Amino acid sequence: MAETARQNDIARRLQATTVTSHLMATFARVNLAFERGEGVWLVATDGERYLDFTSGVAVNALGHAHPRLVAALTEQAKKVWHVSNLYEIPEGERVARLLCEASFADVVFFCNSGAEAVEGAIKTARKYQAVSGRPERYRIITFEGAFHGRTLATIAAGGQKKYLDGFGPPVEGFDQMAFGDLAATRRAVGPETAAIMIEPLMGEGGLRMVEPSFLRSLRELCDRHGLLLIFDEVQSGMGRTGELFAYQRTGVVPDIMSLAKALGGGFPVGAVLATSAAAKGMIAGTHGSTFGGNPLAMSAAAATLDVMLEPGFLDHVRRIGLLLKQRLAEIKDRYPALIAEVRGEGLLVGLRALIPVGELVDALRAEKMLTVAAGDNVMRLLPPLIITEQEIAEAIARLDRACGKLNRALAGAPAAAAGRGGGRREVVR
Ligand SMILES: Cc1ncc(COP(=O)(O)O)c(C=O)c1O
Repeated sequence: MAETARQNDIARRLQATTVTSHLMATFARVNLAFERGEGVWLVATDGERYLDFTSGVAVNALGHAHPRLVAALTEQAKKVWHVSNLYEIPEGERVARLLCEASFADVVFFCNSGAEAVEGAIKTARKYQAVSGRPERYRIITFEGAFHGRTLATIAAGGQKKYLDGFGPPVEGFDQMAFGDLAATRRAVGPETAAIMIEPLMGEGGLRMVEPSFLRSLRELCDRHGLLLIFDEVQSGMGRTGELFAYQRTGVVPDIMSLAKALGGGFPVGAVLATSAAAKGMIAGTHGSTFGGNPLAMSAAAATLDVMLEPGFLDHVRRIGLLLKQRLAEIKDRYPALIAEVRGEGLLVGLRALIPVGELVDALRAEKMLTVAAGDNVMRLLPPLIITEQEIAEAIARLDRACGKLNRALAGAPAAAAGRGGGRREVVR
């Protein structure tokens, strides 16, 4: 029975990819397409409305079709879309100033994605050591479970076998430590170490929080050995945790930070932020990007930041995040056979499932609510930051219904359930 289902599935997939799609088959896509969005809602091509608790994986922080973003982009689209970085881009100057005023940073480099931002951060750290007279220092210490992107260097930094397999020798220069292992990290610092890189709140790795005391120890280690501390805030940054940047909750300040995802509110923008000391090697000609920071991207980022920096915006995220977490804790208590733990901060939260997390995601989608799996069998709940209390209540009602159905299925099929491990569906990024 299971074998027949599997063969049917393979036949269906083969047919789908060979006959109907010319897209490279890198994503295990769900058969669902959307034609428009409004706030926290996405409307599918068949007219069904879905409650969006994925936000394009932590991207649409202001929801869909936010009037300020639409106005900014359409205004800019009528003026100029793109000019080369050979010329000044005034809106880019403004976005960089806003980011620096709101963070530890003095300077910003704009790019187009998270992986590029992480690459830029790595290059900035290596160049800092080189121009400081220590060119032998190029190695970066990273942590198990991290996700830093899909370029050759960032898969090496992430160190996950499934992303490295088949792509040749991993890019040299990354030393991966067990999550939270300070003693090993101390031992790993050597004459070739340039920097330590970490996500202050691990997103793809399953919303694992890094203890502030651990981050403090990393800061001390960097200061003692002349290393740079890089925070990858591609997912945790831009208001998601209730602070503009997750590091601001910890009291530990990095030298370099990567941003992307929500920075453009849905328009592709990435950024490397750094102190002027850390960026001292990044002079004319050392790095570049054709599209990075172009006028369209900067108009989207400026509008996003303008909204996020308004008084009360982050208070709302903190308040509503707390409410969501409380309601999720009730769901966990109601369904102890399904949910083991509530994780995360602000609106970067999730449930660690006791059934394969893909089943929970599928059950939610059947209730017309979109969520996304992460590592460690965690289902992430990443609504737009503008979500209201009523919409949280609606989400909890849908989650309750989905869990009720799964619970009944579990009670009715103990033998089948016993055989299912805690596997997870491949995360579609
Ligand atoms: C922490 C972190 N860094 C980097 C990336 C890579 O970003 P992108 O997919 O935009 O290249 C991601 C994406 O999920 C991420 O979560």
